[in-house]
Amino acid sequence: RRVCVIDTDPGTDDAVALWLALAAPSLDVRLVTVAGGNVGLDHTLRNARAIVGLAGRDVPVVAGADGPLLGAFRSETQVHGADGLAGVALPEGPPPKPGIAADAIRALLRAEPRVTLIGIGPATNLALALATEPALAGRVEEIVLMTGAWAEGNITPSAEFNAWSDPESLAVLLECGRPVTLATLELTAQALVTPARIAALRARGGGACLDAAAHIMAGVPASRRFAHRGHPLHDPCAVAWLLAPGLFATRDVHVHVECAGVARGRTVVDRWDRSGVAHNARLLETLDADGFFTLLGENLATLP
Ligand code: BDR
Ligand code: CA
Repeated sequence: RRVCVIDTDPGTDDAVALWLALAAPSLDVRLVTVAGGNVGLDHTLRNARAIVGLAGRDVPVVAGADGPLLGAFRSETQVHGADGLAGVALPEGPPPKPGIAADAIRALLRAEPRVTLIGIGPATNLALALATEPALAGRVEEIVLMTGAWAEGNITPSAEFNAWSDPESLAVLLECGRPVTLATLELTAQALVTPARIAALRARGGGACLDAAAHIMAGVPASRRFAHRGHPLHDPCAVAWLLAPGLFATRDVHVHVECAGVARGRTVVDRWDRSGVAHNARLLETLDADGFFTLLGENLATLP
């Protein structure tokens, strides 16, 4: 089983990603760290605790950054609702573990020779952990991130929300020398939640987690960008890569994240090796969407 940390800002799609990871037999989720992002840290922490609690799992949840290293914090309540979970109320979860996220991540890296970092929010906590003790990067097996976009953004014309929220931290991860895998907006656009897919999920008849996931997915407004056919299920794509890489086609690339000006948070992805700069990331390019939603349903159905 793969030992991993999930750094998250729940967030509707974060909730589904956490349940997928907690359900998956091949993942050993040892730690959930939380940042402000989709909504403020008070809500994301509360949500993360509730999500872990509903899954009946005793995984420590630790609070981290309530904003980026530099620049202003801005949330995404239009998509995720004021509470971050599209208005779906979950029972209160277990209390957070004391301490701060970056310390907890470093402690896990010291204790385990191989740890996978899964980042599905702004990258601040993961970057702080590696920047404050760079030697620990040697223990990172892989960094899998839902972040970035090589065509157009979703928070500004050029930037995806997580990359835009803390580009300096994303740069730390891209330059840490460990394998980085990216699920960008172009990939997650292929994981469209539609009414038919929600109905198929419900038809499996799982427990409270599957039911809550279906409610949350149904509560996210359909996106104008997709002609109101549905909305992209971003964060579970990053988890699915670790569970079923055969669902994806990939390409090795160099990625630079822009930190200044109007293009702040833009990920410049060199898909055709035009810059001649050495590759620093694996780009997830295509997804077998039906296989992805089947994987999701199968796993969520095993949770309480
Ligand atoms: C990313 O930003 C958040 O809104 C989602 O949870 C996802 O992590 C998509 O741009
Ligand atoms: Ca997220």
